[in-house]
Amino acid sequence: MSHDNLPQHPQHVQNLQHPAFPDGFGTGAHGHVPQPYGPDDPSDLSDLADIDDRFVFDFRAYDDLEDGQRWSTWLSVEPLSRGPEPLPDWVVTSQGAVDTELGVLKTGKEADVHLVERADPLDPGAGVVMAAKRYRSPEHRSFHRAASYTEGRSMKRSRDERAVKKKSTFGRQVAAGEWAVSEWGALVRFWNLGLPVPYPVQIDGTEILMEWITVVDEDGTVRTAPRLAQTRPSPELLAAYFEQLTGALATMVQNGVVHGDLSAYNILAAGERLVIIDLPQIVDLVGNLNAMSFLQRDCANVCAWFRSRGLDVDEHALFAELMAHAF
Ligand SMILES: Nc1ncnc2c1ncn2[C@@H]1O[C@H](COP(=O)(O)OP(=O)(O)OP(=O)(O)O)[C@@H](O)[C@H]1O
Ligand SMILES: [Mg+2]
Repeated sequence: MSHDNLPQHPQHVQNLQHPAFPDGFGTGAHGHVPQPYGPDDPSDLSDLADIDDRFVFDFRAYDDLEDGQRWSTWLSVEPLSRGPEPLPDWVVTSQGAVDTELGVLKTGKEADVHLVERADPLDPGAGVVMAAKRYRSPEHRSFHRAASYTEGRSMKRSRDERAVKKKSTFGRQVAAGEWAVSEWGALVRFWNLGLPVPYPVQIDGTEILMEWITVVDEDGTVRTAPRLAQTRPSPELLAAYFEQLTGALATMVQNGVVHGDLSAYNILAAGERLVIIDLPQIVDLVGNLNAMSFLQRDCANVCAWFRSRGLDVDEHALFAELMAHAF
């Protein structure tokens, strides 16, 4: 887990707030740094009076972490593992920020979704709650997503590919990470296309942090947006939802990609707006022979739900309309 390689507190905080090293540092300048303590009394700091100002810096102390907390992993992941620019203004990038576990949102077959708050203890007002989707460790998950999804998807190292095919323990580990990487790539791709998906904040191993999609109750309480399947929208809202979804599907198809597991369970209803989630299995229209049947199934799933709520829609008509956009 990412917790293992976190920088140690408080060195972490000190280092990060250290001013740029002065010119000449490393070329012998450090040889002149006075010893911090006198030889007899270790608490005697009088020698420090002579220390070059450039080596003196302030740091602010942070409390120790508690259970269910870790230092923000924002700076410990590579730049490409952070979300696309421009960053939304709510993303917390502070070096002293702490991630606090708030609890499990939903356990799934392959991943659990938790709520995590990221906040700098010295600036708590700027904190943010995010959804953390954590793919299960190899022993605890069942790979229900079939190989038909990954067909045509290239794996960089052939050793990994062979291991996944053989379903060895190593292969399962590779596959767990692959699904997270795949969902991360899909979120970034969809976000960059302007599609309604949660903003992808960062990926760290098998954990993806993303925007928490919420609704605000009449009394002002913020809570997780319901899945579309749990809602009973008014006829007007239902029609508006279908239009949004058709537009999103058309954008996907125009860009050569199919969700592959779309249903009213993988769409959140955030008030007037729909947000599409759960993307690890997206399939390319070109390169995957099954893409057309996945698209047909996606159309059938969503149309069945809209019909169940009273909107007269037809999956064949939707599929035909999308195909008209495709080529
Ligand atoms: N960004 C988010 N904001 C709010 N809720 C979310 C978010 N991501 C996931 N959820 C909640 O967690 C549930 C599971 O997420 P997701 O569908 O991505 O994972 P999954 O492992 O495929 O789960 P399942 O097997 O139930 O489909 C969602 O149905 C939704 O209720
Ligand atoms: Mg899901």
